[in-house]
Amino acid sequence: MFFDPSKLKKIVARAALQYVHDGMILGIGSGSTVRELIELLSASHFRVKCVPTSYDTELILRKKNLSVLSLQDTDRIDLAIDGADSVFLEKGVIIKGGGGALLREKIVDYFADELIIIVTEEKVGRLFPVPVEVLPFAYSKFLLEKLSAYGTPTLRMARNKLGPVVTDNGNWIIDVKIPSDIISRKLEDDLRRIPGVFESGIFTKSAKVLIAREDGDVEEAKI
Ligand code: A5P
Repeated sequence: MFFDPSKLKKIVARAALQYVHDGMILGIGSGSTVRELIELLSASHFRVKCVPTSYDTELILRKKNLSVLSLQDTDRIDLAIDGADSVFLEKGVIIKGGGGALLREKIVDYFADELIIIVTEEKVGRLFPVPVEVLPFAYSKFLLEKLSAYGTPTLRMARNKLGPVVTDNGNWIIDVKIPSDIISRKLEDDLRRIPGVFESGIFTKSAKVLIAREDGDVEEAKI
């Protein structure tokens, strides 16, 4: 039995490694599960180049001496591998952005030829507030009213800094508690249409989802 969450993260990260080939250009997601993947990549024989989805990931990749590319340095991303905060398999929806990296994650993950999401079992079907990255200028009664049509919005506040979380892109994040019956693929477009919203953590791109079960098995699903 592998009830230790960090062990399960390692297991699912290792499962993703079987899809990595020498010479690939990889999109590298953000978060603690992806950190396990970076550890494995740096210990592997693969010569890959990595497009990071956050400053956090970029710093870790550089520390591990892995080759880092910006989007402008490449004309392709063969495969992106990323974590998630929640996976609704039957709805075809993934929720991301718990670590505040959703905008760059969406850009890199969606530009990649293929996407693999690596999660541990407790994230399947779990209700998680949907992060929405907004332009600080737009933060107002108007924006909050628009978001309130879907759920309860709360500006994400920083720890160890006064005021709101400021993303890698200089924006703010509003976490919207949305009831599970409103979570849908359509929500991605609906939220994006609100003026001042750059992106939400609703991801609907086709992806292979690798799920580490509590017994250490890894299940493969698709959205
Ligand atoms: C970062 O903004 C998120 O989208 C992460 O991918 C997500 O929070 C998963 O992180 P963990 O692997 O740490 O749970």
